[in-house]
Amino acid sequence: MPAFNERIQQALDARHSKGLTRTLTPCDGGNSTTVSIAGRNLLNFSNNDYLGLANDPELKKAFQQGIDVYGNGSAASPMVSGFSNAHRLLEDTLCDWLGFDRAVLLSSGFSANQALLFSLMHQGDTLIQDKLNHASLMEAGQLCDATMVRFRHNDVAHLRERINAAKSGPALVVTEGVFSMDGDRAPLAELQQATDQQAWLAVDDAHGIGVLGETGGGSCEQANVRPDLLIVTFGKAFGLSGAAIMCNHSVGDYLTQFAKHHVYSTAFPAAQAFALNHAAKMIQSQTWRREKLAEHSDRIGHKLGHLAGYVDTSTPIKPFIIGDADQAVAVASAMRQHGIALTAIRPPTVPPNTARLRITVTAAHSDKQVETLCQALNQVVEE
Ligand SMILES: Cc1ncc(COP(=O)(O)O)c(C=O)c1O
Repeated sequence: MPAFNERIQQALDARHSKGLTRTLTPCDGGNSTTVSIAGRNLLNFSNNDYLGLANDPELKKAFQQGIDVYGNGSAASPMVSGFSNAHRLLEDTLCDWLGFDRAVLLSSGFSANQALLFSLMHQGDTLIQDKLNHASLMEAGQLCDATMVRFRHNDVAHLRERINAAKSGPALVVTEGVFSMDGDRAPLAELQQATDQQAWLAVDDAHGIGVLGETGGGSCEQANVRPDLLIVTFGKAFGLSGAAIMCNHSVGDYLTQFAKHHVYSTAFPAAQAFALNHAAKMIQSQTWRREKLAEHSDRIGHKLGHLAGYVDTSTPIKPFIIGDADQAVAVASAMRQHGIALTAIRPPTVPPNTARLRITVTAAHSDKQVETLCQALNQVVEE
């Protein structure tokens, strides 16, 4: 169809002319502290394996044991025969740990957010989202039947205005616990106060679970807040993949009936559920991983804090904001010359003129590797 060809070409040309074309580069060791890209070994400061579990021998063994017991794929939707005792055990572990009645499992955080908003939000409802929420939440908000409005990032007064202006139907406020591109935390206690009785609060804690809180229970544990809905994902601190929507009994029953991403999609493998259950235990008991992260955080803050554009955070996500997209790519490329892999994050993933290097540190990085990162960035900025 010529019309499709024309549309596709125009969209590609537009991206290219702005210097924002995305490319897919194969890398070996992307889930590790060293990565091989185009035959070069680099230090990897661009993955979300915050606790260093993706390559941990103990967790690898648990996954392998799971395969021995349950085989490879789950072979069906959870409603048919894809839901195993390993999935049930994982649900129970998550509920006990995070303090919810139910955990509804999905194959990814993206689908969890879509499943939740598509099934819960109806016409006449108001969905109120932080302006910097993840693309999966924004897209689901635009496509669902509710009216979506946004509030300025972490601005509780603005949220209150939005809540007061909402129609008479139910309102849902959605925030991330830790913002994925900025590494800052939502003011959860204040947000909960603002929603009190007037709206439900949902927290997507993709980047907080495992990392924050005494037991790794995430942003909500740290803030001592229990939201109405909590989305946790397993592709980051859990070192695997998948997600769960934590909720009460009736929401759990409702999602089991109406969340299409749950009902009509193959369950993640039982072997993975088995490994995830093991990861949840490791996260809770191996506090040294969070301590190591805190040490790295201090070191990085100390060594990079003086650089204009570097934003110090209390999470493993450390943005170095450059502004111009081409310049961000140039700095990422200079860092690569120094042996460091960092991704330049550009619009539309981040707002215009805020292109950045998204530095992520993990418990698996050694002190020396972190030192090398800091030295290299200081040198590149000087050059
Ligand atoms: C805040 C947030 N929510 C959801 C997702 C999607 O999770 P998943 O990668 O499991 O699809 C991401 C992914 O990066 C994220 O940053």
